[in-house]
Amino acid sequence: VYDLVRSFLFRMDAEAAHRWTLAQAARVAQSGWLLRVLSSLLEVRERPLLRVQGPGLAFDNPLGLAAGLDKDGEAVDLWPALGFGFMEVGTVTPGTGQRGNSGPRLERLVEDRAIVNRMGFNNAGAPALRERLSSRVSDLPVGVNIGKSKDTPIDRAVEDYCQALDSVWMEADYVAINVSSPNTPDLRKLQSRTYLETLVGELSKLNRERAMRSNCAPKPMLLKLAPDLSDVEIDGITEFAMGADLTGLIATNTTLSRAGITLKPSIEGGLSGAPLADRAEAVLRRIRGRAGNRLFLIGVGGIDGAERAYRRIRLGASAIQVYTALVYQGPGLVEDILEGLEARLDRDGFSNVSEAVGVDV
Ligand SMILES: Cc1cc2nc3c(=O)[nH]c(=O)nc-3n(C[C@H](O)[C@H](O)[C@H](O)COP(=O)(O)O)c2cc1C
Repeated sequence: VYDLVRSFLFRMDAEAAHRWTLAQAARVAQSGWLLRVLSSLLEVRERPLLRVQGPGLAFDNPLGLAAGLDKDGEAVDLWPALGFGFMEVGTVTPGTGQRGNSGPRLERLVEDRAIVNRMGFNNAGAPALRERLSSRVSDLPVGVNIGKSKDTPIDRAVEDYCQALDSVWMEADYVAINVSSPNTPDLRKLQSRTYLETLVGELSKLNRERAMRSNCAPKPMLLKLAPDLSDVEIDGITEFAMGADLTGLIATNTTLSRAGITLKPSIEGGLSGAPLADRAEAVLRRIRGRAGNRLFLIGVGGIDGAERAYRRIRLGASAIQVYTALVYQGPGLVEDILEGLEARLDRDGFSNVSEAVGVDV
């Protein structure tokens, strides 16, 4: 069925197709019976082998929706019906959000199974996301990815992140700190040690304050990294993360590199999908090599099936995420990956997915 839908969608402009799909997804998400039909069609079922337990985190399975697909949480109740173990919404910025860059800002590179985007954090703002999340029906764990507004100078970025965190805090099961989108000027500078110390320091102070006031545990906080960092930078951030109030790292965001693609994109921006897979794996492996199991790592970038998913887990990812492959393969991808993971874990004699994490490093 998705082949048919896809041929229709792929004839539309990429962003128009995205908007249309998300609108339909939101419609399904609001209908109880449509959700039930969808889950039974996709044969969503429990898979004890795949249960994930992390510090302050528990997922039914390790596969999550990556940030940026449902930035404003328009279809939060749909993602569990597809079989995901968790979802990440955002990136959101403070206040009423922002429009993002002007178009064209999204392009498919079909033969390369890739996407280039320069969206620039178009979003309706953190308070609006909090509203959406607070009225959700499902209890699928949700990570909220936060960022800074385009107009906020880098030296005041911390205020933006803190404001966004404060808005969504109550509704988040974990917080992803996005310092790696290539489409907001200067954002990736926040990956340097001096900025990181202040940023993570202030966010963790706020996190602890909110936790104390609500009489519950602070939210796990993870930092999302760019694949274009050097090895030295990756090592530095890994060391920093282990010493800071961070639960883990998310590797990786989109890349500015154009290695591995045959088509020439007509827009600038971050590349995602199949050509990113090898680099995202290398970054993950490097982090795991240094951190062992002291950080909870989420692997993302070019995962397009069970084989890649399993490899990412064996390279150190306790959880994984997909975006681009979902565009190319449709919602059946989720169950394909979960089933394939189960089969591989079983074949290799693991009794839970956690036992396979990092075995190849
Ligand atoms: C159109 C588009 C928008 C994205 N927006 C965000 C975003 O707002 N925040 C973020 O952290 N990552 C964003 N990402 C990056 C993805 O979350 C993911 O890290 C990246 O696409 C690599 O995974 P993939 O190869 O499975 O797509 C976006 C990706 C795409 C394709």
